[in-house]
Amino acid sequence: MSKKLESLLELSKSIIHIENINALLDQLLYQTRRECKADAGSIYLVEEGKLRFSYVQNYTLALREENDRQHLYIDKTIPLNTESIAGYAASTEKTLNIPDVYNLPDDVSYHYNNSFDKATGYQTLSILTSPILTASGDLIGVIQLINKEDSLTFDEEDCDYIKHACDLASGAIERAHVSNETFMRMLRVAELRDPKETGAHVKRVGAYSVELYDAWARKQGISDSEIRITKDPLSTAAMLHDIGKIAISDKILKKPGRLNEEEFTIMKSHAAIGANLFSKSHLTIDRMACDIIGGHHERWDGDGYPAQLKGNQIPLTARIVALADVYDALISKRVYKEAWDEQEVLDYLAAQSGSQFDPELVELFLSIQDTIRVIRRRYQG
Ligand SMILES: [Fe+2]
Ligand SMILES: [Fe+2]
Repeated sequence: MSKKLESLLELSKSIIHIENINALLDQLLYQTRRECKADAGSIYLVEEGKLRFSYVQNYTLALREENDRQHLYIDKTIPLNTESIAGYAASTEKTLNIPDVYNLPDDVSYHYNNSFDKATGYQTLSILTSPILTASGDLIGVIQLINKEDSLTFDEEDCDYIKHACDLASGAIERAHVSNETFMRMLRVAELRDPKETGAHVKRVGAYSVELYDAWARKQGISDSEIRITKDPLSTAAMLHDIGKIAISDKILKKPGRLNEEEFTIMKSHAAIGANLFSKSHLTIDRMACDIIGGHHERWDGDGYPAQLKGNQIPLTARIVALADVYDALISKRVYKEAWDEQEVLDYLAAQSGSQFDPELVELFLSIQDTIRVIRRRYQG
């Protein structure tokens, strides 16, 4: 069997069980980069009629800036038209192989946007771009492989490989896309019910949780592939942390003042109610959602709710989200409170280390503040 075919089979095996769209695309990018020997790669996803620069994997930058993950949150959307390289591949649904982005032929409609190179100091040369479509032909996004090894250019074999890989992934992408849409719809329903918990808040909590998990997992020596597989369900599940509030009556949910004891007891039931929504499934994301939703108000010292779990009895993912959620609630302005100063919030977290929060996680969270700040700016509102 040829090496390329073997690698395509390996790809199809590795993605068949991935339920989450982000994890799937991440894996697709990882495998195609490895097979086509690309130093870097990125994925743009279609969002509200535009292309959003959504993932970047970059070997050179990863080596250079081991702990600097800020470029992951560069906020960039580009119009879905033929003026950019990614836009061209998306609009025409064609694979585009460019040997040198700084020397494009005169007769093409697209140009190279060098803002990523400028922001990171990275030098892009060759780019292979291919559209990602679902099995039924809907455009999901665009995959780009950047800088073929040893300053070479991508060849016909690479073009074939990336096309086959995207085709192979299309069925799984479609399934994952539908399930992702369902989760996002649940979040929109929750936001309609409780405008205090904004979309921006849940996105930030999702992103902080992923970064905190990443720092924790690297410290434990967990493999890159396991980290990648865990991060995306974690992000979605973390965003769902307060989904149980859809079952709390408006009288309590929207009460402007403080809740009395009886109201607070009802409010607290959102953790168990939410967890129950996911408890009967054994899909990874559902199990993770169940742990997080059920455990995000537990405390390290056992004084939380609903089950008064203590220390490591609380699932790791719930300990992570508990910290991310409180951090964001304190540092943001809400209808009922002003935003706290960053230093005040960090002091609070440090003071609660070992009582409310897992001390190891507090320490890690304090150590990744540069990335946390970038996320805060990225998801404002
Ligand atoms: Fe909650
Ligand atoms: Fe929250």
